[in-house]
Amino acid sequence: MAKADQIKALIRCHAEGDDARFYAVAMQVAAQAARSGHGNFAQELRELVDKAKAQSKADTSAQSSRPVPLAQPRGELAGLLTVSYPKTRLTDMALNEPLDKQLDRVILEQRQRERLLSHGFSPVRKLLLIGPPGTGKTMTASALAGELGLPLFTIQLDGLITKFMGETAAKLRVVFEALAATRGVYLFDEFDALGSQRGMGNDVGEIRRVLNSFLQFLELDKSDSLVVGATNHVDLLDLALFRRFDAVLEYGLPTRDIALEVVKARLALLDTSTVDWEAAISSAMGLSHAEIARACEQAAKDALLNDTTVLETKGLVAALDERRTMRRKTI
Ligand SMILES: Nc1ncnc2c1ncn2[C@@H]1O[C@H](COP(=O)(O)OP(=O)(O)O)[C@@H](O)[C@H]1O
Ligand SMILES: [Mg+2]
Repeated sequence: MAKADQIKALIRCHAEGDDARFYAVAMQVAAQAARSGHGNFAQELRELVDKAKAQSKADTSAQSSRPVPLAQPRGELAGLLTVSYPKTRLTDMALNEPLDKQLDRVILEQRQRERLLSHGFSPVRKLLLIGPPGTGKTMTASALAGELGLPLFTIQLDGLITKFMGETAAKLRVVFEALAATRGVYLFDEFDALGSQRGMGNDVGEIRRVLNSFLQFLELDKSDSLVVGATNHVDLLDLALFRRFDAVLEYGLPTRDIALEVVKARLALLDTSTVDWEAAISSAMGLSHAEIARACEQAAKDALLNDTTVLETKGLVAALDERRTMRRKTI
């Protein structure tokens, strides 16, 4: 039977979380029991140890493939990025077929990344999203995080540059260190800040330095995180940028079919049986996904505030036209 010092050792190992030693002592007890003729007890003990070992191994490997929950960035990171845990899915988005396929592929490669890596291939993970405002670039980053169950970290580059003039490159290093430490989707939003601020009265040297260090960090980055750059102004960006990304995804204004998809999704809770979709969609042409979605919300609210859940074509067209007028004013 176990001696007093063995029992004490077991308790100490348990308290210190030293599993390896804990099992070693238990096996010693089993060996001793076998020697003193308690064969059954020894056998039971060995089986228990084997089972416990297998269990704890399964737990730790499940843990390491799970994203680390990071409630809020602390210390220096706090001022550099914001975190969220989006529930957005790809099916929430109205996307043209090429984009839909590209994003499906990114998600598939990420889901199968262990298999790809074990054969020496890297899953696609550095993405540059380009296209006009309101077409779903920021939303895509959320959808990637939502699909993969990863946290979404957003870095607002223009804020970073103005806030930390002179030390932006050092701050970028901190961000890239976080990116290597915690797997997630890292969105460098409004990426054009790096391009467009050049020659606009800002410190050109600083912007250049920041862009160069971003490219270097991006190149050196061998982490498991997804890096997503999003920009509205592709013409302002350096060609050097494109080469450092694994894929460039192009967003555009919705076609008639896509516009109809956005409209129907937004109005799903209303009675739209009398809506003339052709007329409504004609009014939606030229607007972005975001503008169409907003117009639909406006029309839906107008109907509800008028005490009806029936949406009329007139109201929808009026809301869409209003958006178009707002757009003209802002340009
Ligand atoms: N492709 C899309 N499908 C469905 N809704 C969209 C799409 N693109 C934009 N939206 C709507 O417009 C909002 C703003 O879009 P966002 O992703 O911020 O555009 P961007 O980053 O390209 O400027 C989204 O939160 C969503 O409600
Ligand atoms: Mg955006």
